[in-house]
Amino acid sequence: MTAELVDTARLLVASGKGLLAMDESNSTCDRRFAEVGIPQTAEFRQRYRTLLITTPELGEAISGAILSDETIRQSAPDGRPFVSLLADRGMVPGIKVDRGTHALALHPGETVTEGLDVLGDRLREYATLGARFAKWRAVLAIGDGLPSLAAIAVNAHALARYAALCQACGIVPIVEPEVLMTGNHSSARSGAATETVLRAVFAALVEQEVALEAMILKPNMVLAGSDWPSEATAEMVATETLSCLLRTVPAVVAGVAFLSGGQSGPRAAERLDAINRRRSLHSSRAPWPLVFSFARAIQHPGLQIWQGDDANVAAAQAAVRHRALCSHAAIHGRYDDAMEGEAS
Ligand code: G3H
Repeated sequence: MTAELVDTARLLVASGKGLLAMDESNSTCDRRFAEVGIPQTAEFRQRYRTLLITTPELGEAISGAILSDETIRQSAPDGRPFVSLLADRGMVPGIKVDRGTHALALHPGETVTEGLDVLGDRLREYATLGARFAKWRAVLAIGDGLPSLAAIAVNAHALARYAALCQACGIVPIVEPEVLMTGNHSSARSGAATETVLRAVFAALVEQEVALEAMILKPNMVLAGSDWPSEATAEMVATETLSCLLRTVPAVVAGVAFLSGGQSGPRAAERLDAINRRRSLHSSRAPWPLVFSFARAIQHPGLQIWQGDDANVAAAQAAVRHRALCSHAAIHGRYDDAMEGEAS
């Protein structure tokens, strides 16, 4: 079983491609639709997900796509199931299985991610629907005294129990402990918080006997908060992010797939590119593939262009394809600003 899981994990992160997160819950998807005036219905969510999956040549940049509970059960309007459409395009179907963040008792401003109840049954069902990997996102905020030890401990424990259940059900877990970019903290603070969180997560994973070679870590990059007055260069982000990972992530982990966390597509690509360029200078010290698992940084421009109108599908798909190709180039240290100019 572990050998198969290792093969799937490698297929996802060691093929020189990244992941497309298109697993927004219905409420998050609807909120993004509302921002651009798209009707918030199951039909429009289906049409949007069809647009994403059928983007021409998406499989050249994307190894796997993370679906939501609604999407994994849906088909394109012509009746072809999304799971088959992905497989036909060379992309592995995955599934988001957490049930979102909930207020953490006695800890104002902090959350715990829920969803462990009957998770084994749900994972077995998702496996029959075609999912070969899964995702669970924990969220840690930086603030006055945050993240607390309590928030770190409960979220690390939940991530580890989720990962163990996934592997027992033949599914590769993506372990996502996101330290939020929201706030006015420095990048040093983000680095320290991310380091503490990753240490706790790996301690919990080891305690639950999760096979680290058959899992993927989905971390944030080390970034100053969104309200911090100055912005670090991509090289500084790369240095701080790699230092943090080298101190905390065991070498045997199958790969690291960064979330975008609210960065624009070009920023996320530029920084991933810098991480990979820097990594190639020190390849013996950073043993994992360093790829992306972006949602907003790939989807955002396409969603703005689409606006729910069939007449805009081709242009929206061109924007999605462009962002996917830029992110893919960043995995190989081949992204540069000129790629953005080519698109416009
Ligand atoms: O869980 C969050 C998503 O999988 C990644 O989303 O790239 O927009 O941060 P993002």
